[in-house]
Amino acid sequence: MLKLGIIGTNWITDQFIDGIKADGRWELASVYSRTMEKATAYQQKHGFAEAFADIDQFFEEGSFDTVYIASPNSMHYQYARQAIENDKHVIVEKPSFANIDEFAQIEGLLQAHPGVRLLEAARHVHTPLFKAVQAKMAEMTRIQGATLTYMKYSSRYDKVLAGERPNVFTLDFAGGALYDLGVYPVYAAVALFGEPESVVYFPTLIETGADGKGVAILGYESFEVTLNFGKTANSHMPSEIYGLKDTIVLDNVADFSNASYFDDDQVEHPLATETAANPMKYEIETFTEILQDPTNETQVKNYQKWFLMSKHVNGLLFTLRESAGLDFPSDDQ
Ligand SMILES: NC(=O)c1ccc[n+]([C@@H]2O[C@H](COP(=O)([O-])OP(=O)(O)OC[C@H]3O[C@@H](n4cnc5c(N)ncnc54)[C@H](OP(=O)(O)O)[C@@H]3O)[C@@H](O)[C@H]2O)c1
Repeated sequence: MLKLGIIGTNWITDQFIDGIKADGRWELASVYSRTMEKATAYQQKHGFAEAFADIDQFFEEGSFDTVYIASPNSMHYQYARQAIENDKHVIVEKPSFANIDEFAQIEGLLQAHPGVRLLEAARHVHTPLFKAVQAKMAEMTRIQGATLTYMKYSSRYDKVLAGERPNVFTLDFAGGALYDLGVYPVYAAVALFGEPESVVYFPTLIETGADGKGVAILGYESFEVTLNFGKTANSHMPSEIYGLKDTIVLDNVADFSNASYFDDDQVEHPLATETAANPMKYEIETFTEILQDPTNETQVKNYQKWFLMSKHVNGLLFTLRESAGLDFPSDDQ
């Protein structure tokens, strides 16, 4: 059995733990929270063996072999660093790290700890429906780009409008639309089309100085991909991948439940696959297989594929941010 430790006690960790329990190949070992009161409450809520409120003690004495990091984005680097130094595997929530220097430092540290694996929780690219879209794309004779959309109003924007500064909407915590919901279309673009040749991001800035929504354009050799994303408005626009006469349409690019292929005659063919009630199910399956048998040749290849994708996404997020002049305070540290 794999042994899980967690950092971050918000709803996303609840969803991850539900997926871990359903998977059945994990024990709930250790929980860290900034206060002992919260750590104990969370331990009891889910049935963890031990609780910590001291981060050094958590990493040095915790009986877990894998840590799931779901803290604000700006904290991922520090926690991942400590995990690797203590030879714990890391599952880090998206976006993995706030800039390319952080990613490079973590990559160097992983090279010094070759038994440790670091996986980024980008749930949508692990789903059967996303894989069905990839398979259908491979059959199309010509691809001419895409428009990928994910824009959902966040209740935390109500707080910004009321004068508060929730982590996710501040540059101090490496927040903003691009580094939150924007990660989904960026990941999808990298998974479907690879690394672009040129990029530009047009953000809509909000009261905190962060981006509330925005449009990014990724230039590839023979087409472009447009990404629409944000947290200060709602979009009902589907996402589309353009062939010549044919098109793939997804209901959105993160929480998709439907995708269809429209053939040359515009006849719709639904891409039928299962969708799980817990959207984290499929990434948990992939991660569990890699972590259960990390030196198995197939799992090493799987790991290298996902790690490289994380690296490309990290680089692309950073370049997009640079193109818009959006600096995080942590960039200078
Ligand atoms: N994959 C997905 O679908 C999905 C969905 C939502 C979020 N996410 C990702 O999950 C991560 C967490 O997002 P979130 O919205 O849950 O963040 P959050 O509410 O700002 O913080 C998450 C947790 O981190 C701890 N925390 C809060 N402020 C902190 C601070 N100043 N310093 C250190 N720890 C702090 C808190 O745990 P304690 O009070 O217990 O210490 C809190 O429960 C982000 O990277 C986000 O992008 C992923």
